[in-house]
Amino acid sequence: MENTFPKDFVFGTATAAYQIEGAVNEDGRCPSIWDTFSHTPGATFAGDTGDVATDSYHRWREDLALLNDLGVDAYRFSIAMPRIMPTPNGIPNAKGLDFYERIVDTLLEYGIKPVVTLYHWDLPQYLEDAGGWLNRVTSYALGDYAAVVAKRLGDRVDTWTTLNEPWCASYLSYGAKEQAPGLGLGPGAFPAVNHLNLAHGLMVQAVRDIVGDKSKYSVTLNMPFNRGDADACHRLDLIANRAFLDPMLRGRYPDELFAITKGICDWSFIQPGDLENAHQPIDVLGVNYYSTNRVAMSDRPQFPQETGPSTCPGASDIDWLPTDGPHTDMGWNIDPQGLYDTLMRVHDRYPEVDLVITENGMACRDQLVVNEDGTKAVHDADRIDYLERHFAAAKRALDDGVPLSGYFVWSLLDNFEWYFGYAKRFGITYVDYATQERTKKDSFLWYRDFIASRG
Ligand code: BGC
Ligand code: BGC
Repeated sequence: MENTFPKDFVFGTATAAYQIEGAVNEDGRCPSIWDTFSHTPGATFAGDTGDVATDSYHRWREDLALLNDLGVDAYRFSIAMPRIMPTPNGIPNAKGLDFYERIVDTLLEYGIKPVVTLYHWDLPQYLEDAGGWLNRVTSYALGDYAAVVAKRLGDRVDTWTTLNEPWCASYLSYGAKEQAPGLGLGPGAFPAVNHLNLAHGLMVQAVRDIVGDKSKYSVTLNMPFNRGDADACHRLDLIANRAFLDPMLRGRYPDELFAITKGICDWSFIQPGDLENAHQPIDVLGVNYYSTNRVAMSDRPQFPQETGPSTCPGASDIDWLPTDGPHTDMGWNIDPQGLYDTLMRVHDRYPEVDLVITENGMACRDQLVVNEDGTKAVHDADRIDYLERHFAAAKRALDDGVPLSGYFVWSLLDNFEWYFGYAKRFGITYVDYATQERTKKDSFLWYRDFIASRG
């Protein structure tokens, strides 16, 4: 595939702390909700935990060298709050800051832009014990933590991303039982939505107060894209997308969101000042995109009453239908047109922000092969095909006027895939979990050549 992206287009890869670091008890890190959750029997698919993961806390140099070989312009990684603020007393842990400073400085030596995610789901357990995202105190704690990180890393960071996928951090984590803390409260997750929006704004303000406009500010969302019945799609768009984007980018919740959740949520947890705080200027909106959904209205009534666990409270009368194939190893459909449609729609609605694809990639059943000369390889042709088709869709959106400035492949490495543990491989680098040996997959080599051939 010819690379016709502009010269200044940013190519990168992405990871997240709990998925790669391991070393959960080292250098003063405190437990996070993911440590607690993954150690709860039955919570993850095969009982896997992130205790070791890809051991990147120790192998970070080797991993950053991979990035250098790949020739990326930027690396998106997350900072673990449990390493920086390991106790509720507000005193930063110097060893945690040292670790991320080494990463940032090594990236800069390689000429790779650090794109930091401040919160990728690893909430300190002590905050959860006080109510977690259901308690607005958590939002303020995140703001304080952001200030601590900004004071140390300051303008060496290219882009500060506050949150990764607040949809997952609220609905999947508090509404359903799929992700930590897995409370399954259904509509009881809506306070988490508001407190995540608040935390986003407090983090932007905290970092901007210290760094000013020398860095870019951002937030990353997955924006579930649904096809099918128009009313169902509209309602899901309100719950999954606009419940976050409207407060952050417009300073208000859509009235229709209140209307469709009437009877299951009174939104009385929104306090004066929350929306002003949530609504901060940002430069870039991060889009995580993997697949699309197909939905229809069922003949179940929506009310009464939704009280049980739900991944999407307010949508009990909507059915998720099987999607057309092919599917990835996650069972997700492959729909590059959905990426194009997502970018066009988001830009149409929020034309004031640039867009970056902060995650896109594919889980495959990768097989490590040992060649006759002892070298190893992974022939992941399906992943290359997936990436080629999604890059082409992104380029079409760019040509059609979307201010798309970058693309981060998920992921640099196979890693701890949350509920699915080590059973699902998203990496362009294969990790042999028995030895921690890294092997570049064919998709790594493809991506390296693709980046090098741009312009
Ligand atoms: C999400 C889908 C998910 C479905 C069922 C929806 O809210 O958008 O990604 O498959 O819930 O869990
Ligand atoms: C998350 C990643 C995750 C990926 C694949 C996104 O929801 O940000 O942490 O590994 O999707 O499921």
